[in-house]
Amino acid sequence: MRLAVWTSYSRIPRSSLVRLFAAYLVKMIKTKDRTPCPFGSYYEFGTGWGGTLAAFMLAAEQIASTHDLTADDFRVFAFDTFEGLPPSAHPADRHAAWREGAMASSVDVIRQKIATHPFARRVPVQYIKGTFEESLTDALIERLRPFPPTRND
Ligand SMILES: C[S@@+](CC[C@H](N)C(=O)[O-])C[C@H]1O[C@@H](n2cnc3c(N)ncnc32)[C@H](O)[C@@H]1O
Repeated sequence: MRLAVWTSYSRIPRSSLVRLFAAYLVKMIKTKDRTPCPFGSYYEFGTGWGGTLAAFMLAAEQIASTHDLTADDFRVFAFDTFEGLPPSAHPADRHAAWREGAMASSVDVIRQKIATHPFARRVPVQYIKGTFEESLTDALIERLRPFPPTRND
């Protein structure tokens, strides 16, 4: 499965991430009658190369196969500059590896990776490009209001 190769760059072992996401999804299924949040929304702030997103897709595929769901029961909102780290003057961001543009990926790279996997390519994905500060606008909140994030703690 090519998606498995795609996730291999993540620092957290892929299988742990997939298990974590799968457990959250099962919890969402169990609580879906007690929450206004529709099942299956995944917000990722800092999509990077898509390693974590791939783990979510593998978990979604697993849960879909065991709970009679389809790719359309999930939706992804991927937030990133898709040009790497933005500039920062914050003292906590002073780090040799954290220069402007580091960790750059692109929407095309993520799309190409998703296209290699039959389940993932059917999951609706919205790419929200820009710094979080720029892209998290009131207009976007209104657009996403039908899909509020669920807390899973
Ligand atoms: C460590 S990478 C994420 C890795 C990713 N989760 C994965 O599994 O491949 C951090 C990402 O956050 C993005 N990022 C960091 N600060 C940001 C900001 N203020 N606004 C938008 N994107 C930001 C960077 O562009 C980079 O792609």
